[in-house]
Order: sequence, then structure tokens, then C-alpha cells
Amino acid sequence: MSVTDRCNFRCPYCMPRQHYERHRFLPRSDLLTFEEIARVVRVVSGLGVTKVRLTGGEPLLRAELHRLLELVVRAAPVEVALTTNGVLLARKADALARAGLRRVTVSLDALDPQVFRAMSDSDHDVGDVLAGIAAAERAGLSPIKINTVVRRGVNDGELLPIARRFRHTGHVVRFIEYMDVGTTNAWKPSDVVPASEILERISSEFPLEALPSGGMGEVARRYRYTDGGGEIGVIASVTAPFCGGCTRLRLSSEGKLYACLFAAFGDDVRALLRSGADDAAIAELVTRVWERREDRYSELRARHPRSLPRVEMSYIGG
Ligand code: 5AD
Ligand code: SF4
Repeated sequence: MSVTDRCNFRCPYCMPRQHYERHRFLPRSDLLTFEEIARVVRVVSGLGVTKVRLTGGEPLLRAELHRLLELVVRAAPVEVALTTNGVLLARKADALARAGLRRVTVSLDALDPQVFRAMSDSDHDVGDVLAGIAAAERAGLSPIKINTVVRRGVNDGELLPIARRFRHTGHVVRFIEYMDVGTTNAWKPSDVVPASEILERISSEFPLEALPSGGMGEVARRYRYTDGGGEIGVIASVTAPFCGGCTRLRLSSEGKLYACLFAAFGDDVRALLRSGADDAAIAELVTRVWERREDRYSELRARHPRSLPRVEMSYIGG
């Protein structure tokens, strides 16, 4: 569930600055209120959803996010996780954990300050992100997942430093193949470092062995360091798509419902919420979207023209 379409980074793979300079972000009145989000959670929980992930944009830019957590946790027996770029996490981890947050995933594409700047196109300090990870750890949100998107020629030199940094911490780095999400990032197949190569590079210094899959809905392939240094994951959404095992529904911050990151159009849940519909009508819409789902964009990637419309990652969340 995306709680805002705004972000304090301009990662060129997600929100390239030149495209977002004149962009009109959603006005406040278009965003689902916390009460509306909690209601959707209650309804989908009744349909079998057990896990909710708050995303953005950058979710920590949404004021009072801990209040949303309190409402969501009270509304339904779901585990609530958060994906954040980490810059504001040091300030907010405690309040979020106290409000019922269970897990956090922090995006971190580089440790080197210059590479970090190139990946995020921001003046924010990688030190703030590391402080955010430390604060989340102190707040009891461990083990933390670290997301590293790998772009060839930009941050692929950071693979080993990042792996090294998080060995023996209990945190799990997940290296993500750069994807052609949205329409603004000028993605090319040659920008992708395949998961097989990521694994080779890391295991050349720290030998790895495969772990059994985390089960249905798990998107990362898991590996452990043979010396006991911990676990990593790779998300091979380009070279080994997992559309068939995908169990995710996505709700944009203005209440559109999607069954795929690469979808062009979403179903309007907000219109229902604001028209006085009862829970059964909302459940019916969600069920319809899920039952008609035949999205398998990544599996068919090579056959899609690049010009197809698609929602942006900053709009729909990760
Ligand atoms: N390819 C792969 N990962 C991406 N993310 C954002 N855009 C892309 C992309 N084009 C990642 C972010 C964040 C997560 C939500 O998705 O870095 O960690
Ligand atoms: Fe912001 Fe995350 Fe997109 Fe980067 S990837 S611009 S941090 S929403």
C-alpha cells in the first residue's frame, strides 16, 4: 500500500529528475485517509491477506504515519512492514515500532558517498540511512532487509562492499535486478546485472550456498555464506521472472488497485469507499481484480513493446 507518491530522493531508475520537475503530485484530498486505508486492510484481511507493506514514494514523508499503523494493527490481524529509503528512519523508527510496525526494508544502493549520490540523485547522506538502519535495529525491527538495486556501470562496484558491511549483522541484503518499471527511466537490457553474475561476484570473495525457497509468494532466492556470515537474497525479476508465484495486490496512495507492478490501469477503490459502499462491495471488487488476474509481464517481457503504458514505481510502490 502506497501512502504517498512523493519522495525525497530522485533515483534515476525510479523518479528521474527531469521527468519530475514539472510533475503534479497528488493533492492531499486525493490520498486515501488513514481511516480509509485501515478499512481496506480490514476488508482484505477478511479475504485472506495476512501481510501489509507500506510503501510510497517515500512512506516516511506521510505525516503521522505511526497513527496509520495504530489504526491498521487495530483493524485486522495482519503483519505490517515498511519499505523506506531510510533517510527519516532514525527519527521515526521508535514511534513506528511502538505503534505496531513489525518489519522494515531499507533501500540502500551504495555505501560510497559519490555512488550513493549518483544512485539517489539527492544531497542526502548515506550516513543518515545507516543511522536509520541502526535505529530500526534498536527499536526491535531486526532482522532488517536491505534492498540494493544493481545498475551496471553505476553501482555494481558496491556489491562486495555492501555484502561485506552487512555480514554478521543478521540483516539480509537482497540484490535486485534493475527492472523496466514505469516509462521514464530509459531502461536497457544491458543496464541489468543478471542475478547469476551478482552471485558469482559475491561468492568469489564469500562463498555461498543456496537455501531452500521461502515458499509461495517469496520473491527472493536465498543464499547463505558458507562461513556462517549470514544470508543474502537475489531478486531475479528480469532473468528468472516469478509472475506465477506472485501473491501481491497493490494499492496506490489514491486508492487504485493493481495486481501487477507493470499494470497500466488500476481499479478505483476510493470511488467505492467514498460512495458509501459497504464492506461486501469492496470485498467484491478486490475479489474480482484478483480472480481475473492474468498478469505475467515479466515472463513475457521480451514480447512487449517498450511503448506500452505502465504505472510508475513511485506511484505504486515496490
Ligand atoms: N528496478 C528494480 N528495483 C527498483 N526499485 C525502484 N525502482 C526499481 C527498478 N526500476 C526498488 C527500490 C526499493 C524497492 C521498493 O524497489 O530501490 O528498494
Ligand atoms: Fe524514492 Fe524509492 Fe523511487 Fe528512490 S526508488 S526515488 S527512494 S521511491
